[in-house]
Amino acid sequence: MHPKVNEGNCSFWTFQNLTICIILIELCRVQGEIITKNKDVEVGGRVTLRCTLSKLYDTIQVTWQKEMNGSVVNMATYQNGKGPNILPPYNHQINFTVLGVNDTAITFWNASIQDDGCYRCIFNTFPLGSVTGKPCLSVYTHLSIFIYYKTSDRHTNATCFASGFPRPSISWLPPGHKMNENLITNPNGTVSVMRSIFANTSGNHAGQELICRVKHRRKEVDLKLALLGRGHNHQDYLVLILLALMPMIILMN
Ligand SMILES: *[C@@H]1O[C@H](CO)[C@@H](O)[C@H](O)[C@H]1NC(C)=O
Ligand SMILES: *[C@@H]1O[C@H](CO)[C@@H](O)[C@H](O)[C@H]1NC(C)=O
Ligand SMILES: *[C@@H]1O[C@H](CO)[C@@H](O)[C@H](O)[C@H]1NC(C)=O
Ligand SMILES: *[C@@H]1O[C@H](CO)[C@@H](O)[C@H](O)[C@H]1NC(C)=O
Ligand SMILES: *[C@@H]1O[C@H](CO)[C@@H](O)[C@H](O)[C@H]1NC(C)=O
Repeated sequence: MHPKVNEGNCSFWTFQNLTICIILIELCRVQGEIITKNKDVEVGGRVTLRCTLSKLYDTIQVTWQKEMNGSVVNMATYQNGKGPNILPPYNHQINFTVLGVNDTAITFWNASIQDDGCYRCIFNTFPLGSVTGKPCLSVYTHLSIFIYYKTSDRHTNATCFASGFPRPSISWLPPGHKMNENLITNPNGTVSVMRSIFANTSGNHAGQELICRVKHRRKEVDLKLALLGRGHNHQDYLVLILLALMPMIILMN
């Protein structure tokens, strides 16, 4: 059965109620006859995906699957009156925490990057047939960032590094300098992004501030690199005055 959201009802409502209606649709997505919710979890954390039938049917079997590259893989199943069966490798990763005929939940005890993605909970019912919910799990890691820079008489070559999952993105401000970017997927699934800037630090460019802006999930972090004017005969006229982690700016969805 296809997920159905009865958004039509919203149009009869006032603007205020419309907002509440949209929030309700977001929070408690009614997928056909199933109520479920998407979840976020940090790597290593514990999280539960739950599906509840909004009406009581005669449930014969409940199955959980994971969506993978366009196909689905069976994870676990139980039948009314029989014990649950969790297939490897998921038997080391999840447990059933609700085993109802109209309510089911699986818990990941130690979430990993591989658990990121969308799942299906399927109730095989009589006489309706199968009813499917599709909760999604967003797994994330903390973000690590730093700047490495080299400077000569005339130029500064600075590289901003950011690692984490999902993939962070880096931009340098102001734009207009020569840049290049490299990306590595680490064996543990995290992604490291390196973006270099090659800036002219002589003449009227002296005193300019370069900002490495890193975006990760809904957060934004700025690292500032100040290019001070020459003034001295030394090569170290570039000083990193501020490697301030600005308070995380949380952007709304
Ligand atoms: C779910 O099943 C339980 C007992 O199996 C019942 O008490 C409850 O009312 C049912 N919930 C719904 C929404 O049908
Ligand atoms: C969680 O999983 C990680 C990687 O698979 C493992 O290194 C760690 O020991 C696990 N932690 C627990 C509490 O099982
Ligand atoms: C700047 O430094 C990075 C990292 O050290 C290097 O890969 C890149 O080639 C350098 N760019 C220039 C223009 O020298
Ligand atoms: C993943 O690997 C990278 C580099 O190999 C490491 O810096 C990072 O801490 C690891 N992250 C997790 C969550 O295991
Ligand atoms: C750097 O800037 C100075 C002054 O604006 C200019 O004379 C010089 O040609 C520039 N060098 C490069 C490599 O762009």
